[in-house]
Amino acid sequence: MGSGYVLSDEVVNHKINEPVFPKNSSYKAEKSLNDLDLFTKGQPVDFYKELRDNAPIYFHDPMPTDPEPGYWVLTRHEDIKHVSMNPKIFSSQYATGNLLTLGTEENRHPKLFKSTIDHMLNLDGEMHLGLRKEHMPFFKPGYVEDLQKKVTVKVGQLLDQIAPLGECNLVSEVSQQLPIFTLSEILGIPEADRQKLVTWMEFLELAQYFAVEQIKQQNEGVTDSSPDPEMINLFNTMVDEMFDYGKHILLKKRKNPENDLLSAIANAKIEGKELTQEFLDGSWLLIVFAGNDTTRNTMSGGIKLLHDNQDQKELLINNLDYLPNFINETVRCVSPVIHMRRTSLEETEINGQRIGPFEKIALWYGAANRDPDIFQDPDTFNILRENADNHLAFGIGRHTCLGKPVALMQLREFYSQFLGRFPDFEMNGEWKVAPNNFVHAIQEMPIKFSPKS
Ligand code: HEM
Repeated sequence: MGSGYVLSDEVVNHKINEPVFPKNSSYKAEKSLNDLDLFTKGQPVDFYKELRDNAPIYFHDPMPTDPEPGYWVLTRHEDIKHVSMNPKIFSSQYATGNLLTLGTEENRHPKLFKSTIDHMLNLDGEMHLGLRKEHMPFFKPGYVEDLQKKVTVKVGQLLDQIAPLGECNLVSEVSQQLPIFTLSEILGIPEADRQKLVTWMEFLELAQYFAVEQIKQQNEGVTDSSPDPEMINLFNTMVDEMFDYGKHILLKKRKNPENDLLSAIANAKIEGKELTQEFLDGSWLLIVFAGNDTTRNTMSGGIKLLHDNQDQKELLINNLDYLPNFINETVRCVSPVIHMRRTSLEETEINGQRIGPFEKIALWYGAANRDPDIFQDPDTFNILRENADNHLAFGIGRHTCLGKPVALMQLREFYSQFLGRFPDFEMNGEWKVAPNNFVHAIQEMPIKFSPKS
């Protein structure tokens, strides 16, 4: 493999500073955004409100055993937009645009750790643009329109399978399956291999929980919530399997390129050189995770929102013209990516708070999307909301979600067919959300409806 660029080697040596300037607010919250259990009942919107009201730029304690100091928490729409739109000051590359903590070396799965770093989400400047450009053809309107035809058929097939049952776990039967299908079509993954992606995804959603619980175990000994050692072994095996598969298929596509996104990634260049194995691993992880998990959780999350807001459900079912705005409002309320991270490169100011160079900043999208300065009655789910698409769930600025048109297309196809066929659906028990403060990961969503032959 070539001698090209490896970001993860640099990032581990970069230092993050304690705040150098006095904090504008002395507010000390009792709850912690590092507490993953806080996220198992949905996003902690009341806590976001507490922070936004008391300390909109709040300095938070670090994650357990994080070698870096804590991080600034942003909860206002305007502040998150400001940081996202100024990448020269707020870098994604210096210490990654997505990792809230580097964790300690002994708690890292070596390949998973490096791969969460070596991809385009964590690049600045020309390197980022160059790699993003290689992905672009697979997200353009013409390509997405062609893809939509296949997605329409796939949604029909998935719904045919659940129709006679009258009940199902929506996640395993539909929400997991559709994004895997769509992404596999874009990437060029053979049909026989696609179910593996479903399993890998489930384990990846638990990665953060395993890491944090292992740290807790070292500090407190085994507790009730400690994962079973066999589960940890299985987790490691699954992660290895996922990377082995990615390596195998990317190298195959490098040799024999086809018209698909994996071939484009396999043959992309950074600074004129082929991607290193680290960047191939990282790009594989990014696209598989970003392309699946987000759409899947929005699909399930929208169903829960409709169940909890029967008046909105009736309004929508009686007029499917509201579907596009319902989708915007759903993405706003679900905010499936909970946060991203940036690092200041120079002395700057956010909303009156002075920030020194190399301080860590976390953008809490779910909080921005319920900012009352932008959204009237932000906690009300309102499918007629005029500015619903003003949400930041897809990010904003140069790293704005590349997959947004593909995500919206799948959501349109899914909801239009699902609501047309199962208008009387109801939830049939409790949902289950994984302990994770990076993605809102809905693992179970039992529903029932009138069976159809
Ligand atoms: C509802 C669904 C989705 C949501 C809410 C979402 C959200 C996001 C967010 C918040 C970012 C980072 C923005 C930033 O750091 O400024 C991002 C980046 C990205 N997303 Fe999505 N995403 C979704 C679906 C998808 C899909 C379906 C794909 C691919 C098929 C995808 C691929 C990507 C990629 C490649 C990036 C990195 C872009 C870059 O660094 O330039 N996403 N997404």
